[in-house]
Amino acid sequence: MKRLTINVSDFFRNPERFADLSRSILPRLLAERNNLRLWSAGCANGAEPYTLAMILYQLAPAAFAQHAILATDIDKGILSQAESGIYAEGELKGLDAAQRERYFRPLDGERWQLRTFLRQRVEFRQHNLLSDPFPEDWDLIACRNVVIYFTKEAKEQLYLRLHAALRPGGVLMVGGTEPILRYADYGFQQLGTGFYRREET
Ligand SMILES: C[S@@+](CC[C@H](N)C(=O)[O-])C[C@H]1O[C@@H](n2cnc3c(N)ncnc32)[C@H](O)[C@@H]1O
Repeated sequence: MKRLTINVSDFFRNPERFADLSRSILPRLLAERNNLRLWSAGCANGAEPYTLAMILYQLAPAAFAQHAILATDIDKGILSQAESGIYAEGELKGLDAAQRERYFRPLDGERWQLRTFLRQRVEFRQHNLLSDPFPEDWDLIACRNVVIYFTKEAKEQLYLRLHAALRPGGVLMVGGTEPILRYADYGFQQLGTGFYRREET
């Protein structure tokens, strides 16, 4: 359990993937639907779902309140930390000064709290990817750096279930070192490094 719940995460972790997300993947999804449903599965300290919220806000501030972001993790302790939106100075290293000012308020000289309008967009919930039923109809699921200790069989089951949880045309985002080699077997098309689209049919 301890090994499975190593909670390392960062805002804009693997920035080039988030650049792809913000330049092409999310604009395409926004053109298809104006109320997106995003799921960060294995969200750790919340940096990943809050990064998704920041990008959505940047892309379409006026429509921001229409979107829903679910963030889940098996580890209850990290979820309450994530929900507080409070981060130490060192945890904000993925953000530039302008992003820090726009999205956080200083707390006590050492910690920063994510502004309420961003926190309100993200719902945190405990969920075990190996045993709980999956919520459905997602436009985007980010499941990154979670499967490192999963067996081959567990990964196969997971990709099938993530595929079923996406709406047709929805996109799965995985970690940089976790390419899905036989993505077509699960019914995905590859969109670029780390992104797989559920086929429409
Ligand atoms: C290394 S963190 C990755 C955080 C974030 N996705 C990222 O890439 O920055 C992995 C997270 O997966 C969670 N996790 C591990 N096994 C899980 C499971 N079976 N169901 C849900 N979450 C799980 C851990 O608790 C941990 O918070």
